[in-house]
Amino acid sequence: MRVFRNVEDLGDLKSALQEAFEVKKDRFRYQTLGRNKTALLIFFNNSLRTRLSTQKAAMNLGLNVIVLDVNQGAWKLETERGVIMDGDKSEHLLEAIPVMGCYCDVIGVRSFATFESRRDDYEEKILDQFVRYSGRPVFFMESATVHPLQSFADLISIEEYKRTPRPKVVLSWAPHPKALPQAVPNSFAQWMNAADVDFVVTHPRGYELDPKFVGKARVEYDQMEAFRGADFIYAKNWSCPGVTRPEDYGKVLTVDRSWTVDEAHMAVTNRAFFMHCLPVRRNMIVTDDVIESPQSLVIPEAANREISATVVLKRMLE
Ligand code: CP
Repeated sequence: MRVFRNVEDLGDLKSALQEAFEVKKDRFRYQTLGRNKTALLIFFNNSLRTRLSTQKAAMNLGLNVIVLDVNQGAWKLETERGVIMDGDKSEHLLEAIPVMGCYCDVIGVRSFATFESRRDDYEEKILDQFVRYSGRPVFFMESATVHPLQSFADLISIEEYKRTPRPKVVLSWAPHPKALPQAVPNSFAQWMNAADVDFVVTHPRGYELDPKFVGKARVEYDQMEAFRGADFIYAKNWSCPGVTRPEDYGKVLTVDRSWTVDEAHMAVTNRAFFMHCLPVRRNMIVTDDVIESPQSLVIPEAANREISATVVLKRMLE
């Protein structure tokens, strides 16, 4: 596997899940695979789970790991071609990327949406340059539009906890004070569409996800109606994707706290499990009672990030 960005990159999803459960049983089984090889993890943005779980996954496979925080200690990078570099940016990404490729065998990159241009974000301008110019396999550790390591971990968690062969899974928008990217909901929708689940998306009007991600999912604007009989509730905030009104791209259109997932919402479900990728703002996205309840999967989901990253790195090394 040269690039890990979309669910299709894994090939057959059932085999990938089977491999994930094998790895979970014995996560050091492939310790020799990464011997004398190096993974470079590049962060343009903050992280707790991705940083730790991906390093742990690399260590499971015997890889050496280098972590670079681009904004802390590296030269400030210019990303646009054609710019006269007379400002504060000392190095261009077009030199920095192949240089980074010289020092490693596989590269993971995290670079969020900037919200400056919907087109630039949705064309994945930064990550695409790593794919093109690094000369190394590249895996996305959350890009402008996708977060596949998270969605793979979410799917592993759903497989582990489901009580029916085809559970009802609801992706619900929830309020947040700041503009957040659409990467997590985009990827979650893409992966749920590929999985054997009854998938429903609910959000206020104006928050429609890009059709290339939401695909065949049922969209229900009445949140309570969407929650009825659900087996899994996946809460997440996202800013306006600009699908119906491009000029609203990246804006916070509402912080309506009636969308906060609370016990009244969970009461209409089929004893649903609560999911969130973390970090989460309590009592905005979800109440203390729901996230602390026995139905909350937020910690097992985070733990499965190590498993999803181990499978992805393993396939990139093989
Ligand atoms: N869920 C997730 O990607 O967490 P971090 O932003 O802390 O890596």
